[in-house]
Amino acid sequence: MFTIVAPYIDFFTRSFSLGLDHYWRKRAVSLSGIKEGDRVLDLCSGTGELAFILADQVGKTGLVTGIDFCDNMITFAKKKKSDEYLNITFLSGDAKNVPFPDNSFDAVTVAFGMRNIPNTLSALQEIQRVLRPGGKFMCLELTQPENPWFLKIYRWYVFKIMPFISRLIMKTAAPFQYLPRSIQEFYQPETFKDIISSNGFSNITVRSITLGVATVYKAEKT
Ligand SMILES: C[S@@+](CC[C@H](N)C(=O)[O-])C[C@H]1O[C@@H](n2cnc3c(N)ncnc32)[C@H](O)[C@@H]1O
Repeated sequence: MFTIVAPYIDFFTRSFSLGLDHYWRKRAVSLSGIKEGDRVLDLCSGTGELAFILADQVGKTGLVTGIDFCDNMITFAKKKKSDEYLNITFLSGDAKNVPFPDNSFDAVTVAFGMRNIPNTLSALQEIQRVLRPGGKFMCLELTQPENPWFLKIYRWYVFKIMPFISRLIMKTAAPFQYLPRSIQEFYQPETFKDIISSNGFSNITVRSITLGVATVYKAEKT
């Protein structure tokens, strides 16, 4: 599914979020506490949309490694990388088994990826392993709004409109039938906060943005 969607993902993400996805990523990075000079691992990096914002944040003295298990996504990420981004490396790899030693990053980030990993706990344990003590974990994820009126409009939009447009453009609705289902089936913010907390993290904050359509989780390795 990710291989099929890779050529279209930037267009769909920008259009379906009504341009808000870039703001969500920027807000998440500003809340993350990631600073100049940090070594950051960006999991489920896709075409690198978050990695480029992270690279600006860590500057020339920092390093960003973007990992995705879909080779097609990594190919698009590499194509988008201009010469000014010498501080980013994109690699193919699974978020549950990353090729780095323990304690090797100042921060690990995941944007719109956590709910796609079937075994959330093993991904969290891997994130905990590669972070240095005190290192930061930032997760930006799509969530369901709480306001019942807004939720009605939201559900019509994500369950009806998005798959319909997807079918018109990609000739398949499957990726955008999967997307709202995966948001609905993933942990609610307070539950996910407890799960993060039980897997070796502390100082956890949960910030809801755009009426709860997205949520930013921030935590530190204990
Ligand atoms: C919706 S995209 C998000 C891309 C990017 N983070 C962004 O902000 O646009 C989700 C990505 O997660 C990747 N992914 C899903 N499961 C993965 C796993 N177990 N390991 C690595 N990447 C994974 C998919 O290939 C896809 O590129």
